[in-house]
Amino acid sequence: MPKTSITPITVPHIQARKNTNDYLVMLTAYDAPTAKLADAAGVDILLVGDSVGMVVLGYEDTLSVQVEDIAHHTAAVSRAKPNALIVADLPWMSYHLSPEDTVKNAAQLIRAGAAAVKLEGGTPARVKMIQALVDAEIPVMGHIGLTPQSKNAMGGFKVQAKTAEAARQLTEHAKAVEYSGCFSVVLEGIPATVAKHITNQLNIPTIGIGAGPDCDGQVLVFHDLLQFGTGQSPKFVRSYENLGERATAGIKKFVEDVKSGSFPSGNESYKLDEGEASLLEP
Ligand code: KIV
Repeated sequence: MPKTSITPITVPHIQARKNTNDYLVMLTAYDAPTAKLADAAGVDILLVGDSVGMVVLGYEDTLSVQVEDIAHHTAAVSRAKPNALIVADLPWMSYHLSPEDTVKNAAQLIRAGAAAVKLEGGTPARVKMIQALVDAEIPVMGHIGLTPQSKNAMGGFKVQAKTAEAARQLTEHAKAVEYSGCFSVVLEGIPATVAKHITNQLNIPTIGIGAGPDCDGQVLVFHDLLQFGTGQSPKFVRSYENLGERATAGIKKFVEDVKSGSFPSGNESYKLDEGEASLLEP
């Protein structure tokens, strides 16, 4: 059902959705028009994800994305003045070196217009950074499971927590993320049973991507959802449109019209007053 409220969505609103069956909807957005479209459709959270590196900037993975890239895209999303909460991704190496460095980088994203940041991992090293951010009153969304920034350490984009022991460890990471002060956590690329178990164990909302139906919300990448310039989508994606096909068909027609001379028409051209036209050199 479309949202009727015009009250901007805040971090406490998101926290209050735990165990309400009012599932959270998060979608990535990287610029003003995508933010406006998603906001008008009733999305709760706009994630300026580091997936921007892969779906917009053409990188093979997210590791090349810099804080400045996310700040640039966050500012564009923010200029759309959405009702949805804006969460910006801390890119790789922006929260790994020291708590001071982490807070400084996150502040850059908050100043660009985000209300919260997201970072990947639940190990003690990450917990320290989450606590520093929360101490600086920067709300943090966690992200565990298949964390794309760990691509090299994981040996690729692979489903995680596939054994009982790995699931137990991941549950510990989830609890650490909650304990350190995150207001919600993304569960990515894990078996549905494990996501359900973690969701039941936590008091903060879980938002799943490739984590089955039993999370407190779901997130997808804008370009996957609408098949816009992406190739083969992963198994967990449901595509609701094929904008890529429609865009290519539209552009093909433009190419044909230019080549045949039918574009632009007289109606699509500016006119010079007849008197002025008569004064032109032949
Ligand atoms: O960067 C991103 O788009 C993400 C989502 C896939 C959760 O982190």
